[in-house]
Amino acid sequence: MTGKAFYIETFGCQMNAHDSEKVVGTLLAKGYSQVDTPEAADLVLYNTCSIRDKAEQKVFNRLQNFKRAAGKGKVFGVLGCVAQQEGEKIFERAPHVSLVAGSASYTRLPEMLVQLEAGNRRVTGLSLDTDETFDTPFTRRDNPHRAYITIIEGCDKSCAYCVVPFTRGPERSRTSESVMAEARRLAEAGYTEIQLLGQNVNSYRDPSPAGWDFATLLARTGEIPGIRRVRYTTSHPRDFVKAIVDAMDANPVLCNHVHLPVQSGSSRILASMQRLYTRDQYMQRIAWIKNARRNMALTTDIIVGFPGETEADFEETLKLLDEVQYDSLFSFKYSPRPNTAALAMEDKIPEEEKTRRLMILNEKQRAIQIRRNTELIGAVEEVLVEGRHEALGQWIGRTSQNRTLNFTHPDAGGASLVGQYMHARVTRSGPNSLAGESVANVV
Ligand code: 5AD
Ligand code: SF4
Repeated sequence: MTGKAFYIETFGCQMNAHDSEKVVGTLLAKGYSQVDTPEAADLVLYNTCSIRDKAEQKVFNRLQNFKRAAGKGKVFGVLGCVAQQEGEKIFERAPHVSLVAGSASYTRLPEMLVQLEAGNRRVTGLSLDTDETFDTPFTRRDNPHRAYITIIEGCDKSCAYCVVPFTRGPERSRTSESVMAEARRLAEAGYTEIQLLGQNVNSYRDPSPAGWDFATLLARTGEIPGIRRVRYTTSHPRDFVKAIVDAMDANPVLCNHVHLPVQSGSSRILASMQRLYTRDQYMQRIAWIKNARRNMALTTDIIVGFPGETEADFEETLKLLDEVQYDSLFSFKYSPRPNTAALAMEDKIPEEEKTRRLMILNEKQRAIQIRRNTELIGAVEEVLVEGRHEALGQWIGRTSQNRTLNFTHPDAGGASLVGQYMHARVTRSGPNSLAGESVANVV
């Protein structure tokens, strides 16, 4: 390697985004500098996602695009879920790649960098046999107000469609002491919002004698002086217990939003997906959330076109949308993934049919969101200001319920409001966001 400039591009979920923050911090601590383009870098890293085939293809397109640059002494590394899934096959498919490492090996990153610097062109970190979490003092966070904190890594479930247990390894929880210490440090450094991360935060189990469960950890992070908002993602309905709702209800610092991925409204498909809950059990969780004293926003993930999904199963999902009235949702066409149980399942759904179902689902949800957001007109919400929309002359705010509320503010000509908590009245609504105007802060 000639110099020590690196470029990193990140795909996928918040776990990946946060892993990249840790990787960047580790590299900076080793004397590397970060640059904004792959052209300017000596080391080009892609932190990849393999949740669906499309996500996986992206990294191979990137690698193909920069193939020619490889001759000029650049070193390429593939990190994350595609690295773990494809392993050394990546060296065959993209011979200019020198580093292939999955997230369960990032604690070995400094050592892998030494090997790269020594000129080794086949450096791998692919073991999943770990009980360690990637817990580093060097994290370089992208956002100065909202910080991610990993509380649990990996996943022990075996959903029939999902690569994550293969790409992120077994579940490992961090000690509550380490999580709390990081949260306190962040609060002291001026962060006001924290987001607890894990593939399944609900199965968090403190490995230290304190033995906290997720609800306890959530409640305690909400008590840290200086922290005004706590969010968490992602949940698994099977492990989502009522104590979580009770903790949220007791302390408004815990944001009133639950993302509870359902995947399908049909108990038959849920069984075939090995989700470990029925539609009724899911609806029980929804009832806890809806019966909370605070008004909790609800969002979900849905997969259409899972093998064997009949029109009747799909109708069940549509009926679930009517029943739950989600505030928003992420919808996906089923994508067959390597190693997963669903790969061998019969009754594949044709691509056009998946597309049709996805469109119907999204149309239904859009109508629900338009109606729900219209009901918010006139409401006053507290927002954390996240940015500025110059063209519209608006500040970009986020409500506790995780909605975007863009608003005008009379003194906006001068100082930046980013990072502040303000109150805004909703005056207009669309399917995906709200607009309004600031009001004097209500205490
Ligand atoms: N195909 C389509 N969607 C998937 N997801 C996970 N695996 C697949 C797959 N093979 C979706 C699930 C999950 C979200 C992060 O991605 O809905 O909750
Ligand atoms: Fe993508 Fe899943 Fe890996 Fe996140 S954990 S990067 S969503 S494959």
